Amino acid sequence: MNTQELIDTARALVADDKGLLAMDESNPTCHRRFALLGIPQTVEARQAYRELIITTPGLGSCISGAILYDETIRQQKKDGTSFVKALIDAGIIPGIKVDAGAKNMAGHPKEKITEGLDGLRSRLKEYYQMGARFAKWRAVIVIGDGIPSTGCIEANAHALARYAALCQEAGLVPVVEPEVLMDGEHSLQRCSEVTQEVLRMVFNQLYSQRVILEGMILKPNMVLPGLACSSQETVDEVADATVKCFLQVVPAAVGGIAFLSGGQSGQLATERLNAMNLRFKSRLPWALAFSYARAVQQPAMDIWRGQAANVPAAQQALYHRVNCNRAARRGEYNPSMEKHD
Ligand code: 13P
Repeated sequence: MNTQELIDTARALVADDKGLLAMDESNPTCHRRFALLGIPQTVEARQAYRELIITTPGLGSCISGAILYDETIRQQKKDGTSFVKALIDAGIIPGIKVDAGAKNMAGHPKEKITEGLDGLRSRLKEYYQMGARFAKWRAVIVIGDGIPSTGCIEANAHALARYAALCQEAGLVPVVEPEVLMDGEHSLQRCSEVTQEVLRMVFNQLYSQRVILEGMILKPNMVLPGLACSSQETVDEVADATVKCFLQVVPAAVGGIAFLSGGQSGQLATERLNAMNLRFKSRLPWALAFSYARAVQQPAMDIWRGQAANVPAAQQALYHRVNCNRAARRGEYNPSMEKHD
C-alpha cells in the first residue's frame, strides 16, 4: 500500500474548493429518473447522458472527482475517447461505485444492509488498472419506530470498514458513505442522535480495520429534520446542528467531508453547505465539500429530456449548479446567483 499516494488523492479530492460529482446511479435508479421524464431506458440513452455530463464545458474548474458506475467506467464518448480519459483530460479524478446495493436485512424488518464484499479485492484491482483512484460504498440507515437497530448499524459499519481497508490496499481512496435517510417524520434532534450513533460505530470499525483516516473521505448526510416532520429548521439551524454533530464524532485526521444531497433541492443543498462554510470554515479541522448527484444533476436532466438539441442548455444548468456549490465551499454563495443563468 502506498500511503502517501492515498493521502495525496484524498487531499486532491477536496482541494481548491472543488467537490465530487456523483454520476454512479445503477441502471435501475437511472431508469427510474429517465422514466419520469419520458427518456428511453436504454444503454444508448445512458451513454448519451453520461457523455453530456463528462463533456460539460468548465466542469473541471468546480469538480475534482467523478464517481462512475461499472457500466460507465467501460464506456466511451461517441468519438471513441474513453470516459476515463475524457475525465482525466478535464482534470477530474475518476472514481467508481463498488457496492452492490442496499438489500433487505435478514431478521431486521424495514432495514437494509449493503452487499458487495465478495470478490471486491479483484474488482478493485481491475478498477485501479482502468484508472480509478477512489471508490464509493453507500450504507443506508432508516429512521422509524424502533429503528435503526444496533444490529443494522453494526453490520453496515463493519462492511464499510472492510470495504475501506480493501480500497486502501488497492491504492483507491475510500469514500465512506453512511446515509441516514431524510424520509420520515423524525425531528432534526433525532437525526442528530442517529447520525452521531452511526458515525461513532463507523469510526470504531474503521479503527479496528486499520483504515488510514488521512487517506479516506467521509460522505455523510447533513443533519436534517425528516421530510414529513412538521417543524423544518432554517438553513442556519441545519448548518449549526450538522457541524456540532460532526465535531463530536469525526476525527480531525479524516481527509475531508463531502456531503451527499439525499433528495434536497439543488438550491437548498447549496445554501446549507454555504452556511456551514460561512459560519465555521476557519474553525474546522476538515474541508466541508460536496458529493452530490441529484442536487447537481436534476436541473440538467429536466432540460435534456433525451434530446440532442438540449445538450448545451443542460450542460449550462449542470455547470451552474457545480459553480454555485464551489462558491458554497468558500461561503460565498448568494441566492441571487440563481437568477443570472
Ligand atoms: P444524492 O446526492 O442524490 O443523495 O446522491 C449521492 C450519492 O452518491 C448517493 O450514493
